[in-house]
Amino acid sequence: MKHISLLGATGSIGEQTLDVIRQHPDKFLLKAMTFGRNVDKAIPIIEQFQPEFVGCLDEETYHTLKEQCTYDVKMAIGDEANIVAATYEGVDVVVNALVGSVGLVPTLKAIEQKKTIALANKETLVTAGHIVKEYAKKYDVPLLPVDSEHSAIFQCLQGEQAKNIERLIVTASGGSFRDKKRTELEGVTVEEALNHPNWSMGAKITIDSATMMNKGLEVIEAHWLFDIPYDRIDVLLHKESIIHSMVEFHDKSVMAQLGTPDMRVPIQYALTYPDRAPLTEAKSLNLWEIGQLNFQKADFDRYRCLHFAYESGKIGGTMPAVLNAANEVAVDAFLKGKVTFLQIEELIEKALIRHHVMTKPSLQDIHEVDKDTRDFVQSILT
Ligand SMILES: NC(=O)c1ccc[n+]([C@@H]2O[C@H](COP(=O)([O-])OP(=O)(O)OC[C@H]3O[C@@H](n4cnc5c(N)ncnc54)[C@H](OP(=O)(O)O)[C@@H]3O)[C@@H](O)[C@H]2O)c1
Repeated sequence: MKHISLLGATGSIGEQTLDVIRQHPDKFLLKAMTFGRNVDKAIPIIEQFQPEFVGCLDEETYHTLKEQCTYDVKMAIGDEANIVAATYEGVDVVVNALVGSVGLVPTLKAIEQKKTIALANKETLVTAGHIVKEYAKKYDVPLLPVDSEHSAIFQCLQGEQAKNIERLIVTASGGSFRDKKRTELEGVTVEEALNHPNWSMGAKITIDSATMMNKGLEVIEAHWLFDIPYDRIDVLLHKESIIHSMVEFHDKSVMAQLGTPDMRVPIQYALTYPDRAPLTEAKSLNLWEIGQLNFQKADFDRYRCLHFAYESGKIGGTMPAVLNAANEVAVDAFLKGKVTFLQIEELIEKALIRHHVMTKPSLQDIHEVDKDTRDFVQSILT
């Protein structure tokens, strides 16, 4: 029986993680969870899974929960709540399904307590990959990828030696606007951007998919997870999302992991690893139903955010933290109707241009750069 702490239980990954836990009551127990403000979603989760600890974002949410929830539970509020859940006694695996750089510190605290990390929160490795890797090494803690692309690469590497990898090929659906030319992106709406053709995900990652920043963040994440330089990580457009990613070895043999698009598969693999378990309701892949798989080279002029991410990753130091913070603020502004879709990349570019890189930043440096970048982008918006 694995005892699980789930950070971000009310989100898209959170809900799908709960579905996996629900399917295997003999294997998994939800011991602690956090969420933001979505009390309506949180209450049925708490009543069904009866965790020992629940954390939420603010006082108001806390009081609503206390009033409405029939199950009495230990609670905490704010950033501290994510840390309590991440380090909760008796927890074996922490599933980090938070969105944004708020996921970083709980990951580090969980590593210090030697909890296995099932990492969905890609912003953790993007903002402070060198520190997270150092921690994982020092405390000898496995970082298990939840993102479907990284899970695919991880699965392709089982039984293989890292020294034999030639390159990683990260596949990309292309997001909501993959069939539009750059000139057609001028007046696109938030609703259109949120309409992802293959995956149902949280709002931020859906917009990131449309700009391809999501793929850029994944390239940086792959660099840290698998210790591969950026010039040996390729992005391949593959609109069906059937091949979740590939690894080419020095002998030119290519391993791929395939499946119907269903995030519960990589989530469950991270939880059962190195074992596997049945996943009821998941659809078998019948290639004859699909008939044809399409591939295209990723165009950096069309997807400027992908270009920014590669460049920031190569520069390293604090640059990826700037990329991430500027992107978080710009996407939030787009979702609130304050900027247009194409202004997202303009804001990010401005933040990157003004930044003076620190090459080996501490956690404190990263926090300061994160805050400074957010303030800068906000100042342009107001
Ligand atoms: N969705 C996918 O299919 C997918 C695939 C691969 C990777 N990922 C990555 O997984 C992460 C989560 O994505 P998602 O799509 O699941 O996001 P999401 O649907 O927006 O969910 C985010 C979760 O985090 C909670 N949250 C936000 N800020 C919080 C805070 N300060 N304290 C506690 N909880 C907080 C939210 O709570 P409330 O909603 O209650 O406010 C929600 O439960 C992202 O890093 C994303 O890139 C997602």
